[in-house]
This record gives sequence, C-alpha cells and structure tokens, in this order.
Amino acid sequence: MSTQTVPMVDLKAQYRRIREDVDAAVARVIASTQFINGAECSAFEKEFAAFCGARAACGVANGTDALTLALKAYGVGPGDDVVTVANTFVATGEAILLNGARPVWIDVDPVSYTMDPSRLEAAITPRTRVIIPVHLYGHPADMTAINEIAGRHGIPVLEDAAQAHGAEVGGRRAGTLGHAACFSFYPGKNLGAYGDAGMVVSNDEAFIAKVRQYANHGGGANKYENVVPGTNSRLDNLQAAILRVKLPHLETWNEERRGRAAAYTRALAHTPAVVLPSERAGARSAWHLYTIRVPDREGLQARLNAEGVATAVHYPRPLHLQPAMALAGGKPGELPVSEQLSREVISIPLYPELPMETVERIASVVRAFVAPAVARV
Ligand SMILES: Cc1ncc(COP(=O)(O)O)c(C=O)c1O
Repeated sequence: MSTQTVPMVDLKAQYRRIREDVDAAVARVIASTQFINGAECSAFEKEFAAFCGARAACGVANGTDALTLALKAYGVGPGDDVVTVANTFVATGEAILLNGARPVWIDVDPVSYTMDPSRLEAAITPRTRVIIPVHLYGHPADMTAINEIAGRHGIPVLEDAAQAHGAEVGGRRAGTLGHAACFSFYPGKNLGAYGDAGMVVSNDEAFIAKVRQYANHGGGANKYENVVPGTNSRLDNLQAAILRVKLPHLETWNEERRGRAAAYTRALAHTPAVVLPSERAGARSAWHLYTIRVPDREGLQARLNAEGVATAVHYPRPLHLQPAMALAGGKPGELPVSEQLSREVISIPLYPELPMETVERIASVVRAFVAPAVARV
C-alpha cells in the first residue's frame, strides 16, 4: 500500500486552482492601500449575505468575535444564561463567558451530534437570553424543532455556523435558520480566508447595525463619537478580497466534499464497527468534516498515521469538562452522549481536492483495522 501523505485539508491544492484570481485580488487591495473598512469588505458582506439568502451581514475579525459580539448585541451580560451544547469547539462557550454570562449545556442527539431539542425546554429559565445551536461538522442542528421551542419562549436563536457555510434545512441556508448566524472564515473552513476572519449574518438589519457598532469601537455618527463600549474587530480588506474570489467556488467545493463523503459512506457501509455520519431528512450538510466513531479511536489514529494519513479529534473533551469553562460548573456524567462522542470520534481527511482513490485507500485502512478478518476476504 502507498504511504503517500494525506493531510486533513490541502490548502495548497486549493490555491493552485484559484491562484491567478487570488494574486490579482491581493495586488488590487495593496495598490488601493485601502486596508480597513474598504470597498472589498462591504462588497463581501453583501455577497455572503446574498449567498446565505439573508438581508444583512457584518464582517468581523474571526468567528469567535462574531459569536461574542452577536451576544453583546442581544444585550447578554452578567446574570444571563445562554443555552448551548458542550460538544463543540471552545469558542462557542468562550463567547458566552466573555460576556459575563453563564453557558447552560445540554446534550446532543446521538445521530447528528447536534443540540438535542428534546432537552431544550427543560433548560430554559427566566434567565435564558439566547440559544446557540452549533451546526457541527457542517451538519445543521434540528432548527425546526429548536425554533419552535425558542419561539414559544420568545428567545432568539443564534446559529453557530462556523463550520456550515452553505448547509441547508428545507432548502434554506445556514445564516437564515435562526435570528442570526455566526461564521468563521478560518483558513481550513469550507470558505476560508488567508488569516482570521468572521461574519455575523441576519435578516434583522438593526441587529447587524448593533454588531457593527460593537465591532468598531462602539462608533456613532462620526469616527470619534463612541456610543457604547465596543472593541476593534473589523474584517480585514485583504481577507475580504480573497474571500470574494473564493465565494463563487463554494457551491462547487461543497459538492466535491459531498461526493467524497458519499464515497467514504459507500466504502464503509458494511463495516458495522464504524458509526458513519448521516444527514437528517430535509437537511443538507456542508460536509466540513467526515467524522466517524470507532471503539478503539487511538488505535485507528495510530494505524492511519502509520499509513501517512492525517486524522483529528473533534473534540476530545466536551466543554462542560474543560477547566476554562469551570465557572459554568459542569461535572462528568452530566452529558453522557457528548462524553461518549469525545471518546469515540475521529475525523478523516475530507476536502474538495482529495483524490477519490485516496478516499478508497483510507476507507480500506479503516476496514482492515476494525474488521481485519472480513477485510482479507
Ligand atoms: C463551531 C465553531 N465555533 C466557533 C469557531 C470560532 O471561529 P474562529 O476560529 O474564526 O474564531 C469555530 C472555529 O474554529 C468553530 O468550529
């Protein structure tokens, strides 16, 4: 078997496909010397909002700030609770704590690994200000059920769509599935910048105006009027120009991811020891990651790494057990599904340029590891 190295994501291969356009965009921004709040930023905000099907968007410095500033725009602060999941990247929890509020964790559903709506109602109290479902691995949370419960309580739903550019529920894209949505354009995301970048998207233009105010020093009508205590979290014009080059390719790239995910699923379909990702009826994943579950995760990781195949664990420790989140008071055993996932999940390479024969090779290593006798037949 070949031991050719396979990364989790190959940004060099992506760059080769769009090099001329990226280089021209970068040169254009440098020649303009408009680096902050430039035309590229406002054009990209409009274009990405249109991609999502939303009315407005505000570019910010990264996805973590998108969440933090969106919560600020909801008025979240000390004494407030935000209901979310622990089975996510740390930023989801950080954004809540950084606003002085308390994360209230609920468990995820064992099939989609996203917020379990059947646990939501019981977590809502008069202190609950916002609900944040996470579209994990690109698969949308069960937004229909979550919106129904949130709507009855009059609580806004903020999508953590950092991994879900282009994901859909019932033909509507992430960005329009709650009251507002936060995106990350971290380089390895489905739509990635060449540095940090993020965005808040919503149909509520007044809300986006508030986010913009917080992201730009609490600005008022003129530059030196500061109305609220804000921060500096602006989208960089160079990043916006690069993202504008990439955005027209996103649908194709997501389809290429889908094709590779389907190939993994076909190749591993008859391997009962491996739990495969799936799509809920009516949902379309953006297939940011292809994450499987196996009983001996560390063993499989070692085998794949020995074959030159990169792997990653998203995520090895649920947030309620992270020391950084101790203020929220989580204890082992509280979220059994999230805790079990953290022991079993392993992500294998998935990116648009991943050769199909490499998908087959990786799948055969997985098959041989979990069911050696069957694989030999
Ligand atoms: C689910 C989730 N939320 C939030 C973020 C934060 O985004 P960023 O890294 O751009 O701050 C990420 C990105 O890594 C993420 O995966």
